[in-house]
Amino acid sequence: MMSTHIKYQRCFLLYGDTGTGKSLYLKDLLTNKLNENEYLPNLITFAPRITAAQTQELVLLKLHKKRGNQFAPPTGKRCVVFIDEINMPAKEIYGAQPPIELLRQFLDHGIWFDLKKPEVITILDTMFVCAMALPGGSRHEIYRRFLRHFNLFNVCKFSYESFFRIFTNLAFIGLKRNGFTAGVLPIVNDLVNATLRVFNSAIHHLRPTPLKPHYLFNVRDFVRVITGCILLKKESADSSRTVFSKLWVHEMLRVFGDRLIDQSDKNWLFFTIKDTVETILKERFDIMFDYLPKFQNEITEKSLDNLIFGFMDIEVIPEDRRYEEIPSIEEYQQVVSSFLVEYNDTHRDKIDIVLFRYALKHLTRICRVLTIPCGNMLMIGTGGSGRQSLTKLSAAMNKYDLCQPEISSTYGMQEWREEIKNVLRCIVIYTYN
Ligand SMILES: Nc1ncnc2c1ncn2[C@@H]1O[C@H](COP(=O)(O)OP(=O)(O)OP(=O)(O)O)[C@@H](O)[C@H]1O
Ligand SMILES: [Mg+2]
Repeated sequence: MMSTHIKYQRCFLLYGDTGTGKSLYLKDLLTNKLNENEYLPNLITFAPRITAAQTQELVLLKLHKKRGNQFAPPTGKRCVVFIDEINMPAKEIYGAQPPIELLRQFLDHGIWFDLKKPEVITILDTMFVCAMALPGGSRHEIYRRFLRHFNLFNVCKFSYESFFRIFTNLAFIGLKRNGFTAGVLPIVNDLVNATLRVFNSAIHHLRPTPLKPHYLFNVRDFVRVITGCILLKKESADSSRTVFSKLWVHEMLRVFGDRLIDQSDKNWLFFTIKDTVETILKERFDIMFDYLPKFQNEITEKSLDNLIFGFMDIEVIPEDRRYEEIPSIEEYQQVVSSFLVEYNDTHRDKIDIVLFRYALKHLTRICRVLTIPCGNMLMIGTGGSGRQSLTKLSAAMNKYDLCQPEISSTYGMQEWREEIKNVLRCIVIYTYN
């Protein structure tokens, strides 16, 4: 459907709930599926503070200036501009969104104005496709005078069958890469079903409120659980169901549990996980975690504080490390302490930190996120809780370079851009050396 629209140069817009794959489908189409001799893709993502002038620059960036004031893609090609998050630009004082007005001017009249001199410019062989999530937060309602130019398509939430199919495949491909064979498929099916069960309950039970605005769970969290489970290597599990079940519990606690701020929510998650382990993963929860500390002779939410997966073998290169259950926090402490001593001996910028239990637990969390491709993390806590030093330490353990913007009262957009430029420059130098 999307290819047909592009073939016949008809604008379309995808909208739907967050995490339904709108950006993914369009990026995949534009970057992998279009014939590159015929089409020139231009991917733009709108942010709340984008201006009309920036929008115009971003669109023209890929086009060539031709005769007169005409802009067009190279001869024989057609430009497809994908604007993601089209409803993101902030409204100005009179309630309009200037970047959208600019696009509407193009769609209505086919012209823009040169930004330097008072002249009309025309844009040839260029079409727009857009995506947006439903209004809410910083996303606004878009008015119909703009929308009438597009064919609108709603991207629905996944059905159970789609969820199951997408994520069993994703998990199986990941595990196969780590050495597992098709024998692991029944476990994969159960893991996906188990995640689905907790995910579906969580989106109804853990709802965002003014006190808990970050209780937003979507497909991305589902992906995170599965991505965590497929960090497991064959040598660490050998198709043992119990290892998978323990890892699954750990990943659920990291993705869902670490976001919870309320004891009653934590208890709810604990009981939901426990119930799911017994009904879907078919394991006896109390027996599986019998070795963990008990409280009033029972395995409780607090006992699971001692269930930690991480990388003990930090002497090997990051890609070859094994994601395994850490036998005891004391052993982990020894591993990290010797790394820290070595680091401080060889670096001028020392990490001065006491490795007590709480810090080590956070360290495993940060290392976990850093290991996951495109893993992002936002740490929220009181000053002095070790966010900075632990991040520095985890980056060193994962053999990453660290860049830390020094925010001051004069720090602005320009400084931020310079910072990003430097990081990109370093990546290029590193990649080509
Ligand atoms: N068909 C699919 N196959 C595999 N993964 C998918 C699929 N659809 C969505 N996903 C997963 O869901 C994640 C979210 O998708 P995407 O970023 O495209 O959502 P979106 O609809 O653009 O959300 P938003 O409105 O918040 O921008 C993707 O990163 C991907 O991991
Ligand atoms: Mg998107």
